Amino acid sequence: MSNQPIQFIDLAAQQAKIRDKVDAGIARVLDHGQYIMGPEVKEFEQQLSDFTGATHAFGCANGTDALAVVLMAWEVGPGDAVFVPSFTYVASAEVVAMLGATPFFVDVDEATFNIDADSFAKAIGDATEQGLAPSVVVPVDLFGQPANVPEIQRIAEKHGIKILVDAAQSFGATLHNKRVGTWGHASTTSFFPAKPLGCYGDGGAIFTDDDDLAAVINSIRLHGKGSQKYDNVRIGMNSRLDTIQAAILKEKLAIFPGEVEARDRVAARYAEGLKGVARTPKLMDGATSVWAQYTLIVENRDNIQAHCKEAGVPTVVYYPMALSQQTGYKHFPSVSGGTPVSDALSGKVLSLPMHPYLGEAEQDRVIDAVAGALKG
Ligand SMILES: Cc1ncc(COP(=O)(O)O)c(C=O)c1O
Repeated sequence: MSNQPIQFIDLAAQQAKIRDKVDAGIARVLDHGQYIMGPEVKEFEQQLSDFTGATHAFGCANGTDALAVVLMAWEVGPGDAVFVPSFTYVASAEVVAMLGATPFFVDVDEATFNIDADSFAKAIGDATEQGLAPSVVVPVDLFGQPANVPEIQRIAEKHGIKILVDAAQSFGATLHNKRVGTWGHASTTSFFPAKPLGCYGDGGAIFTDDDDLAAVINSIRLHGKGSQKYDNVRIGMNSRLDTIQAAILKEKLAIFPGEVEARDRVAARYAEGLKGVARTPKLMDGATSVWAQYTLIVENRDNIQAHCKEAGVPTVVYYPMALSQQTGYKHFPSVSGGTPVSDALSGKVLSLPMHPYLGEAEQDRVIDAVAGALKG
């Protein structure tokens, strides 16, 4: 029993809990047959809006499109600098480059893994000197903890820079008692299966309180439609959330608050068990996390990974290379002085198994494996 491999993320345990309801939800879609923009999409969007407190919530095809749709709504393109942390998943910068704008890499804060406000402030001056128009900043809520958007906002406001929060990993988290989805001018999330709220395929959502922006976002995700379906008033894309995925997500959202609490209990137990042994993640004052990842900072990562593997404890490195160092991205500008924190983190981060169904005995095995490797 104790040698059974531990799941890094256990989607099967979650499915077993809600399988009947998911089956029934899918069956309802098969019965009514409205696979595209069926009633479940609207129902789920309303639930998203109620849950987050955002005035508008739109389902879309994935978290990458969600970012692209907002940037398209703001007409971001060549000549625009979009500030993106160097320590993030590629999608945060990919959409910027895809639209012909310039991803401008800034560094992160080692304590939170999120965008560093001083580095952002410095990058605004750098971009201007390079003849770029500072247009948008994309704070990323890495590993499930909200970025310090109020601090970013104070700087962005002075320069008329819009804020697009990439909340792909943090749906369900809060900052100063406000849910993710209500921060920035707009925010986006992902329902990729392994995300805290995941579907059984690709899915994403966009949130905003701005009515005018909402109307444009809705149009862009539907091929730039105008008041009628075959009246296309702008360039858009095909980025709808499938009805079947919405039906699945409705059932998952129903159990999500309990799952977030369970994730928090696992995180608290890891923190307690690894106190004085490893550098465990820190939350900012006023922030909660949904622990999309539980990420340590370690010095001898290879040893620890090998030791954990032997003990049947999977570990993953998110992310092994900062974006500004990657082949497809290193020609884009970075803040003057570079992104040393992002570069160093990529060599030191190690994520542990994290999901709401991780039992205490399994948590102890994880703690023992990490502690054993660090002490041994
Ligand atoms: C930070 C971040 N941004 C964007 C995305 C893109 O989401 P998706 O995979 O749904 O396109 C992801 C997840 O994969 C992510 O982790």
